[in-house]
Amino acid sequence: MKKILLKVQGLGANYGPIRALRGVTLEVKEGETVAVIGANGAGKTSLMRAISGILPISAGTATFLGLDIAKTPTHELARQGMLHVPEGRGTLQTMLVEDNLRLAWEIRPANMTFEHALENVYARFPRLQERKDQWAGNLSGGEQQMLSVARAIINRPQLLLIDEPSMGLSPMFTKEVFRALAELRDAGVAILLVEQNVTRALELSHRAMVLTHGEFTLEGSAKDLAKDPRVMASYMGQAA
Ligand SMILES: Nc1ncnc2c1ncn2[C@@H]1O[C@H](COP(=O)(O)OP(=O)(O)OP(=O)(O)O)[C@@H](O)[C@H]1O
Ligand SMILES: [Mg+2]
Repeated sequence: MKKILLKVQGLGANYGPIRALRGVTLEVKEGETVAVIGANGAGKTSLMRAISGILPISAGTATFLGLDIAKTPTHELARQGMLHVPEGRGTLQTMLVEDNLRLAWEIRPANMTFEHALENVYARFPRLQERKDQWAGNLSGGEQQMLSVARAIINRPQLLLIDEPSMGLSPMFTKEVFRALAELRDAGVAILLVEQNVTRALELSHRAMVLTHGEFTLEGSAKDLAKDPRVMASYMGQAA
């Protein structure tokens, strides 16, 4: 039996009077890729932020490897192997590109040297090598997104939380990023993915869940959901 990495039960989270998450329950096992799909404002980013300990949990529980997320500092969760690539620009803007990568590597140093790990990343994303001595904040939006994904790869997480990796990317960059994610998946990294490109999300994932107004309304294998018209309806913000 595969080990459960992430266990979320009856999770609630609010922004003042706004209830962003209402009784969300999900599990991610070792090596599993799970997509969370939903309309704008459904609560997808809030779910990622609650799981990584950034957004306080108001109800229910969330654990990573049995550690209570509400009581564990985010850096400790990262050290244990849970890495969050946030929506938008998850890079350290006032640091050089290569230092961004070094910092991500140092959280979980592998047997591999940093130089070797760097070679692998640059082979996949030559654009980052060309820009390695620039401030991350000066990269284009797409390049910053690429750097976020490169930081995740070099960190070798056990569980990657990734929010809208294709946002702002051209079709060519999107393809590159999804190829990198598929390699992570095939290497046994568990991924919890939020993605507006539903076709790509379902192609990458084993399972998927549809979030509507802070609640899961549909879940199943990615294969089945790819054929289910309710998925597209909920994504468009209509009734699921
Ligand atoms: N910092 C905040 N303060 C107040 N309300 C917020 C905040 N962040 C999000 N919300 C609200 O919480 C709800 C869920 O937002 P969230 O960002 O989680 O949605 P989402 O599914 O990620 O949407 P999108 O697809 O647009 O990224 C929305 O109604 C949003 O307006
Ligand atoms: Mg979002």
